[in-house]
Amino acid sequence: MKKTTIPQLLKKVSEGNKLTMLTAYDASFARIVDLSGIDMILVGDSLGMVMQGHENTIPVTLEDVLYHTQCVTRVVKRAHVTADMPFMSYQASKEEALKNAARLMKEAKAEAVKMEGGKELAETVFAMVQAGIPVMGHIGLRPQQILKLGGYKIQGKDFLSAEHLLAEAKVLEEAGCFAIVLEGVALETARQITQNLTIPTIGIASGPYCKGQVLVLQDLLGMNAEFRPRHTKIYADLSKIVSNAVHQYIQEVQAGQFPTEDHATHRNLQAVK
Ligand code: KIV
Repeated sequence: MKKTTIPQLLKKVSEGNKLTMLTAYDASFARIVDLSGIDMILVGDSLGMVMQGHENTIPVTLEDVLYHTQCVTRVVKRAHVTADMPFMSYQASKEEALKNAARLMKEAKAEAVKMEGGKELAETVFAMVQAGIPVMGHIGLRPQQILKLGGYKIQGKDFLSAEHLLAEAKVLEEAGCFAIVLEGVALETARQITQNLTIPTIGIASGPYCKGQVLVLQDLLGMNAEFRPRHTKIYADLSKIVSNAVHQYIQEVQAGQFPTEDHATHRNLQAVK
């Protein structure tokens, strides 16, 4: 099986197809998602909430993303894999951003990196792309800004903020991003940005008009019964399925119904004196 390349992804979009992307942070799920035919896997810094139980993405370190990206790239045979650059792994300086992105590629085999930000990142994106590091942009609702924003709010709802987002997207495109995630962008603004770019937009909580869509895998699998965001569709209610299976296991062990003799191996009597 051959790995999906960025030119192949861009060709797919130019032929009128939508791109599909999901997060994965571990080998078990990455294997399933890859074999199911997804175009792109994102090792998102959402791993901070999903895998580590943090309240937001701020505590995630570069070492965390390296580890989870390694878990994913070890088993993915076809999908394109992008690794998220965590909070403060790229903001301090262009040099640090280049060094950290290179670690994600060399040590974890990431095929691209994603960074949250607009104009302030233009020089960094340009330097990375010149160096051979494919970059996915991320604008709109930027979870790494949560402490400044004070909440996860939809962006680009009025004319001025829509114009601002469009300008940010254009700058990122000019700097060399191969795609841009639009997170939590009002759907008309997401449509306007999508129509005005030549690179694909990948939407999350931004409506149907982007050139691709991304979701957190555990959200679409309904794995957190207490977190069902409006933008997600629950395609399978795994929290119920897993919980029922665990209940049944507990009951059967306690009732002596599991394991039975069939789940064990008989001793080789001939070998015993
Ligand atoms: O970290 C993440 O999972 C993301 C997606 C929500 C786009 O950035």
